[in-house]
Amino acid sequence: MYKNEELYPLANLAQILKTSPEDLAEFAEKVQFTAITKVNSLDFIKKDDIERFFEEYVLHSNITPRYWKILPHLDNSVLPWATTLVKMYQEKFAYPTCVSPSQGQLLKELVSNINPQNILEIGCFIGISTIWMAAGLEEIESKAIIHSVDLFEPILLWTGYNYGYLNNPLEYAKNAALSAQLSHRISFYKMSSEELGKKFSQFIDRPIDFLYIDGDHSVPGCVNDFVLFYPQVPIGGYIMLHDIYPKFCGYEGPRYIIDNFIKKSPHFDLVEINTTPHNFGIALIRKRSEDKNLYPGKNWRLELHRARIRLSKTTTWKKIKDKPMGNLVRKVIRRI
Ligand SMILES: C[S@@+](CC[C@H](N)C(=O)[O-])C[C@H]1O[C@@H](n2cnc3c(N)ncnc32)[C@H](O)[C@@H]1O
Repeated sequence: MYKNEELYPLANLAQILKTSPEDLAEFAEKVQFTAITKVNSLDFIKKDDIERFFEEYVLHSNITPRYWKILPHLDNSVLPWATTLVKMYQEKFAYPTCVSPSQGQLLKELVSNINPQNILEIGCFIGISTIWMAAGLEEIESKAIIHSVDLFEPILLWTGYNYGYLNNPLEYAKNAALSAQLSHRISFYKMSSEELGKKFSQFIDRPIDFLYIDGDHSVPGCVNDFVLFYPQVPIGGYIMLHDIYPKFCGYEGPRYIIDNFIKKSPHFDLVEINTTPHNFGIALIRKRSEDKNLYPGKNWRLELHRARIRLSKTTTWKKIKDKPMGNLVRKVIRRI
């Protein structure tokens, strides 16, 4: 694979747009999109031109971008965090990945009522939920900080109704925090949640009394996040899960946590909130007492999920995953 900081393979873009590289190259020629470069007989597009290419592609498709509906009081507010959020919600990649304005409002009010001393957010994306929570802290003049971790990989989005490209989401989130005048409330971490979990005490010196999990939504990914950070939540602390209804959001992980570790456990209080306008759902969980079975190394089912995550990241797995050997491993793992 050709590697260049500024170039993006047209074949990858074709995969995202669910078309073939040949059709995409033909489209580029038809609309006289000249910013395509050939390297070793393969087509590349400059990253700076991807957004412009999307615009052109949309003109020739049936796409009408969708956006979250902004609540009137947010739209009318002159507070810097509110005006910043309104601008962020106008980004094409904000819908439906970020919390909706009404869910964000809920996050803010929960934070300002719970008054946590330390918040950890897994999954910052462009920082919309982060700013909502930071606004809650600001309102009560708390001294707490939000630690927000994300891989912060370039966002290249094509959903069939939305599109957008953002090369540096961390820079975007930091600028948004600045414009919201909330930078002093947020520490950003560009790494995987797993890495942060391993180096926890290096970065964070207090218990996490509000843990917001909205990162890797797969079953092993969610289990991994839950197990990594569960021990850092004190008794009485809160854990919040986003996207708990797979039927609507398409993700299984958060539901799996609720059904397998929370719902029937005497160690937690649980409230499920069926959110509108989309029923992706939110769960608010309160830790009543310690469940040592949920500590890393204590439960074989949890460890199996975590092993899956570790396996999925190895180069060996990446090499075999689409081959017969990969299929065999998948079958064996599923049977356990
Ligand atoms: C649904 S988005 C978060 C949306 C955000 N909380 C909001 O409401 O504005 C999920 C984010 O999780 C991040 N993510 C996925 N896997 C991760 C991991 N293992 N570690 C850290 N972040 C991860 C993705 O990069 C993505 O930005």
